[in-house]
Amino acid sequence: KRPAGAPDKSLARPVSKVGVVGAGLMAGQLALLFVRRLEVPVVLTDLDQERVDRGVGYVHGEIDKLLAKGRLRSDKANQLKALVTGSVDRSVFADADFVIEAVFEELQLKKTIFADLEKIIRPDAILATNTSSLSVTEMAADLEHPERVVGFHFFNPVAVLPLLEIIRADRTDDASLATAFAVGKKLKKSCVLVKDAPAFVVNRLLTRFLGEVSAAVDEGTPIPFADKALSSLGLPMPPFVLLQLVGLPVALHVAETMNRAYPDRFAVSSNLAKVVAAGKSSFYTWPEGKPVVDPEVEALV
Ligand code: 3HC
Repeated sequence: KRPAGAPDKSLARPVSKVGVVGAGLMAGQLALLFVRRLEVPVVLTDLDQERVDRGVGYVHGEIDKLLAKGRLRSDKANQLKALVTGSVDRSVFADADFVIEAVFEELQLKKTIFADLEKIIRPDAILATNTSSLSVTEMAADLEHPERVVGFHFFNPVAVLPLLEIIRADRTDDASLATAFAVGKKLKKSCVLVKDAPAFVVNRLLTRFLGEVSAAVDEGTPIPFADKALSSLGLPMPPFVLLQLVGLPVALHVAETMNRAYPDRFAVSSNLAKVVAAGKSSFYTWPEGKPVVDPEVEALV
């Protein structure tokens, strides 16, 4: 059955090579998913060889873990590893059919990357963005072929969570959207078409939720108490642990985007802003795998 809003699947173009811009954690998770489900060459790029090697190393390491768990046979694991390569030179995307960016959440950076990619990739290759909250329409605005730009928003951990928000920008055409849905289906994700609005659908709810929990902390509830209260309600993960999984700078960035878009409804949490400014990646330290509020964080919030 065709997902709601998906164009006729006969319009979809084949995807036999994938490019991933960025080789950070999100990009690595995407590369792993694409190679596992599509079994096509997946090439990662980043600013320097060290980052590229780390990204490729992450994917290879995750494939090894799947092998150790008995989820992959060794011939398949070797085949998948050989399909994942990296380069600092984006010209490796010249014959890619689908290129997704997963770089830092900065609109101008993403626009510059898309403009640069357009000089390299074929005019009908899909340009996808894994942005958490930025306007996909704006990202495509100055391109020669804005009709091939789609939002492809995954959720952390990418290998586990089934949801994929597919975002149709103002000028995305049916063939590109059909290709996005066909890829999403092969990735075995539950694809939902969402409007290109700030933070799409899920992150606006999540931002509101995490913002309210942070406000409770600002008002005096200690972090572990807030986490215990909400995890005892049956959530899969306590909110301040979830913030660490999402990435504190990403969470702050989404909150700032929402605050700009809807100042009357979204506040930027002061404790999150302070902790990010202090360069922390978590509210907790994890001695023996148990969460203990970081004393430096305690002093800040
Ligand atoms: N990366 C990859 N795989 C992971 C993982 C991670 N970070 N964390 C857990 N897993 C895998 C485990 O390996 C395990 O796989 P297996 O069954 O093959 O061995 C499976 O997930 C289940 O893990 P566990 O049994 O250890 O733990 P849980 O059952 O508690 O599940 C969880 C862990 C799936 C992370 C769960 O706690 C959860 O769903 N948390 C909420 C996550 C969430 O809400 N994410 C959305 C964030 S918003 C976002 O990403 C959007 C962005 O734009 C901000």
